Amino acid sequence: MRLLVTGGAGFIGSNFILYMMQQHPDYKITNMDALTYAGNLENLESVEKEANYTFIQTDIADKQAVDQIFQQGIDVVVNFAAESHVDRSILEPEVFVNTNVLGTQVLLDASKKYGVTKFVQVSTDEVYGSLGETGLFSESTPLAPNSPYSASKAGGDLLVRAYHETFGLPVNITRCSNNYGPYQFPEKLIPLMISRVLNDEPLPVYGDGMNIRDWLYVEDHCSAIDLVIHQGRVGDVYNIGGNNERTNIHIVKTILEELGKPETLIQFVEDRPGHDRRYGIDPTKIMKELGWKPKHNFESGIKETITWYLSNEEWWTRIQSGEYREYLTKQYGSRLGKEQ
Ligand code: NAD
Ligand code: TYD
Repeated sequence: MRLLVTGGAGFIGSNFILYMMQQHPDYKITNMDALTYAGNLENLESVEKEANYTFIQTDIADKQAVDQIFQQGIDVVVNFAAESHVDRSILEPEVFVNTNVLGTQVLLDASKKYGVTKFVQVSTDEVYGSLGETGLFSESTPLAPNSPYSASKAGGDLLVRAYHETFGLPVNITRCSNNYGPYQFPEKLIPLMISRVLNDEPLPVYGDGMNIRDWLYVEDHCSAIDLVIHQGRVGDVYNIGGNNERTNIHIVKTILEELGKPETLIQFVEDRPGHDRRYGIDPTKIMKELGWKPKHNFESGIKETITWYLSNEEWWTRIQSGEYREYLTKQYGSRLGKEQ
């Protein structure tokens, strides 16, 4: 199988490539990533010399470049490439529409032109909006996005649906809850808090800290996507989540406890505008129809994650200092044939 992974230098995409190279060593994997601030090729250092792995620096919204990649032959596309941070989308919505909506459409056009056998759109539970105290998101929950990020993801999802309905493109959409684990950029809640605790810095908790997210260890997300590629019913949506709802303050206190630091580091700060109160996924469909089961619960996953950040301090300090951006030139400069 010739697999095109977009956004493969990001958090989930890089975990997915490492996972797929282990599970399916015979697959040929092309990683297409624009290397925005969130793309970090250091995540893939262990596989970059493998003969069945290729990296190409390309913006998914660049029609010509995308066409050239598809010309070489692609069977399956998994689209991770996105602007992914809600706080950034509040400050600068435009780039979210360019990548998450227009970029998705460029990939869909190429997939249609070259007849891929499956297009998997990696989406998020945030497209469903916010839950009250009860209930869960199912695949038929109406889309009601509240942030520019989630609205742009919903826009991409609707185009994916339309390319299936109108052109018969074989698609799946996956909607996963919040991920955590190795290689997550330290702007998202869990790695941000771990790195700040380790530096004895104040921990900014938005609002009252009682917002709820449904956390899934990244490897469990990867195994779900692997199943959807191979067994997902064409045209269907699959929600992915492991029934691990936790308040933000619980997460922050757990990290403090694990690292033996005092709760006096917590600082409640002004709330995020439009802050969704609660997310919760009903994963019944993917569990029953595809036999998916997560391997990690929150308690084991958060311990593994903290251990990873402790053992990989250099990885996140290089991000904080900006040094990780130099890796591209050092490692790929001449091979890519241009100055990065
Ligand atoms: P990330 O921000 O860590 O990585 C995104 C990657 O996409 C980066 O490598 C970046 O360089 C690349 N990229 C951005 N714009 C691009 C463009 N125009 N062309 C090519 N590449 C581009 O994001 P993530 O957390 O790994 O999320 C990956 C996907 O999973 C996203 O689509 C996101 O919506 C979805 N998702 C994330 C979560 C989560 O908790 N992180 C949960 C559910 C779904
Ligand atoms: P985040 O990791 O940004 O994911 P998302 O907004 O996509 O769910 O945030 C997770 C939760 O943590 C969310 O409710 C916002 C909150 N949060 C804080 O309280 N402080 C922070 O510094 C950050 C980044 C997030």
